This record gives sequence, C-alpha cells and structure tokens, in this order.
Amino acid sequence: MAQPSIYQQVLDNAHRANPYPLYAELRKTPVTREDDGTYVVSTYNEIFALLHDPRVSSDPRSRPGMAGATAASDQGQPELPLSFLNHDPPDHDRLRELAMRPFGPPCTPGRIDGMRPWLAEITTGLIDKFADKNRTDIVDDFAYPLPVTAICQLLGVPLEDQPRFHQWADALIETLDPATGTFEQRARKRDQVNADLGHYFSHLVDSRARQPGDDLLSGLLTDHGPHAPMSRGDLLATASLLLVAGHETTVNLITNGMLTLLRHPGVLDRLNHQPELIITLVEELLRYEPPVQMRTNRTTRADIDIAGITIPKGSPLALMLAAGNRDPSRFADPDRFQPDRTDNAHLGFAGGIHYCFGAPLARTEAQVALLELARRLVNPRLVADPPPYRPNPELRGPRHLFIEYDAVAPARRQEAGHAVSPGINGET
Ligand code: HEM
Repeated sequence: MAQPSIYQQVLDNAHRANPYPLYAELRKTPVTREDDGTYVVSTYNEIFALLHDPRVSSDPRSRPGMAGATAASDQGQPELPLSFLNHDPPDHDRLRELAMRPFGPPCTPGRIDGMRPWLAEITTGLIDKFADKNRTDIVDDFAYPLPVTAICQLLGVPLEDQPRFHQWADALIETLDPATGTFEQRARKRDQVNADLGHYFSHLVDSRARQPGDDLLSGLLTDHGPHAPMSRGDLLATASLLLVAGHETTVNLITNGMLTLLRHPGVLDRLNHQPELIITLVEELLRYEPPVQMRTNRTTRADIDIAGITIPKGSPLALMLAAGNRDPSRFADPDRFQPDRTDNAHLGFAGGIHYCFGAPLARTEAQVALLELARRLVNPRLVADPPPYRPNPELRGPRHLFIEYDAVAPARRQEAGHAVSPGINGET
C-alpha cells in the first residue's frame, strides 16, 4: 500500500494532538499536489499571497461539478443562499459591508466593547460554579457555553432556544471535517442543516421586524444605508454564518489558551501580575495554536504560478494557516510560545477580503475568559496531557480539558478591562 502523504497524515486523527512536526515537514516543499488534485500550501508567504489573490475563489460553485442547485432546494426545502464566507466579489463585499454596519465601526463603534461587562458577568458566573469542586472540564463547563451565549445575545436569540443552536452549530462544524465525506457530500449535509436554521431564523426575523430590539438582526432589518436592506435570504444566511463562525472557533481559542497556559506555568503567573499582557498573549495564541488550522474551501479560477510551480485553474487548495504561523522564515523562534511577541502578523484570522469578521469579538471573549481563569483558579493543573482531541483537523481543539485546582478565589469587582488591539494584522 502506498505511504500516506504528509497532508493525509495531518488529516489522520492519530496526529491531532501535535500536528506541528508534520507541518514542518510540509514546509520543506511550499506547494505540494495530492493525488486527488488538491494543492497543499504550507509556507507563510505563499499562503499570504493566495489569501490576497483575486484569482482564488471561496465560492463552492467554482469547483468543477459543483455549479448546480443545492441539496436543500432539490428536496423541496426553502433554499438558504450562500453566505458571504462563500461568495466572491462583488457579492461578498456588498454583503460583508451590510453585515458590518450593525456590528462594528464606523457605524456601530460601541457594539463589542459594550458586550465586555456582560461577557465578564457570564464568565464570573461560570467560574463561580467551579467553587464547590476541585476538578472541572474547561470545554464543557466553560469554553463551550460562553461563545454560543455571546453570539445568541448578539443576534437576539432568546435564551431558551440556545440548546438548539448548540446542535445546529455542531452539525455544521462537522461538515467542515474533510474526514466526514467528500466535498460534495459535506456541502449537501450543510445545506440540510442550513435549511433548518433558516426556518428558525425566519420566525425570529418576523418577530424582530414587528418589534425591533437592540440586536444585530434588528439592526440589519432597520438599516437604511447604501445597498440596504439585505434580502431576506441573505439575512438568514448571514445569521447562520455568524452562529457557526463564532462558535467552535472561540471555544477552541479559549481551550487552547488554557492548555497552553497550564503548559507554561510561568506565563500564567506573569499574567496574574501583569494583566495587560493578555492582549499580546491572545495574539500569540492565535499564531501558536490557531483554532482554524487550515482552509480547504478555496479554488483557483485561473492558472497560478507560485513557488516555482503552476497550479492549474479549477484546483482545490488547502491553505495550511497553522503551518504558515510556524514558518521560521517569517517568525523568529516560531515553536516557542512568546506571550509578549510584537512582530506577530499571524494567519489565525486568515487574511485578505475574508479576514475574520468577528475578530474583535473573539479577541474580547478570549481576553476576558483567560484573564478571569488565571486570576481565580488557585494552583490549576492538567489532569491529562495531551488531552483528548476532536477529530476535526480544520477546526482543531480538545474534546475535553480536565483540570484540577486547590480552590477558586472570589471574583474581583469588574474592572474597565483592556481594549482590544484593532487591526493588529493590518486587516480590518
Ligand atoms: C477565535 C475565534 C475565531 C477564529 C480563530 C476565527 C477565524 C476565522 C478565519 C480563519 C476566517 C477566514 C475564513 C476564510 O478565509 O475562508 C474567518 C472568517 C469569518 N469569521 Fe471568524 N473566527 C473566530 C471568531 C469569529 C466570531 C466570534 C465571529 C462572529 C461574530 C466570526 C465571524 C466570521 C465571519 C462572518 C467570517 C467570514 C468573513 C468573510 O468571508 O468575509 N468569527 N474567521
């Protein structure tokens, strides 16, 4: 039997706990071709170039054989259009701009900072529950509830509906795992779940249209700016996108963060005395243990010459963001976790026109969560290292992170907090 390629080994669950030696192997050849025609790109400069290349498409219909209708419409379900994550310009830019208006600057500058006290309150409540025991699972008891509650609050989803969102988000995230089926099978499954989500959001949108609130959906519905309003289908697709994109990713950033801190107790201690370190520390986490390890959704729309080879038109790309983040030709001492690293234009939020839309919220959530854990847990330690991982190689993170601790310190009065560093990567 043929030896599995390095990329296949990365996808193999056996290497989930530590894929970094495989990424180092991959980087020896910046662009490699897999037997199925996928081009795997593993070095910083080449990934950066392709993220910014207008000849690279994020639209699944650019793949040969994928131009047809969606499974949801085939099955008579109402079709949810593609979200802007899966659109190319000009539709991408128009929809992203519309979605940005109620989310952040310049139109709604206070939205994310306004969530900070509320996030701190949820975080405090979750950690308070640790007090009557000395062992907990950081994933299920802390990192998981926080982002889904945040995104539901942002969208205006009632509290009692949140458990359903967990299920939908999980089902959608599973479709990102290349090991769960072919590109086409996963796209079909995604369409089915999106149709269910579309039904749910449809009712919510009706109720917000009748009685607008202070949430993002109401903001989109009542927008009178240029290109507004968003069509109903696009609105539903945007709401589903925000739910999924901001869910597992943030869970993994918080969990990877706690794991990394517990592996570096000196840094944990330093954070306690120097809380402002949290800003560069979270950026370093996004470089060192990025929740999104790769993007496998791109297709070339033309022949592209790069790193001495030509990637033919219509080829699938696997952009290995986590490998680029450890590229020694871009980052000094890349395998070292350096919480005060300043030259840190990491690829944790990717780059170019699809640069993470939710980056300010993700940063805020991780800053608040990790700082509170560091402050309040007395002598925390890992129960198992490495912890068990979820199988997904693209959105990589532990399934559980059991920790033990001696006690839980009382919460301090909420401080004003630390501002998110905007545009740290030169992106918006
Ligand atoms: C630590 C947490 C997060 C990480 C690591 C992360 C990472 C990423 C990455 C790598 C992309 C680029 C995808 C691509 O190029 O195909 C992206 C896009 C996106 N993210 Fe995030 N994300 C996080 C949190 C969030 C949150 C909280 C939200 C929602 C509020 C969000 C919303 C989005 C959206 C809407 C896009 C699509 C942007 C576009 O296509 O223009 N993300 N994210």
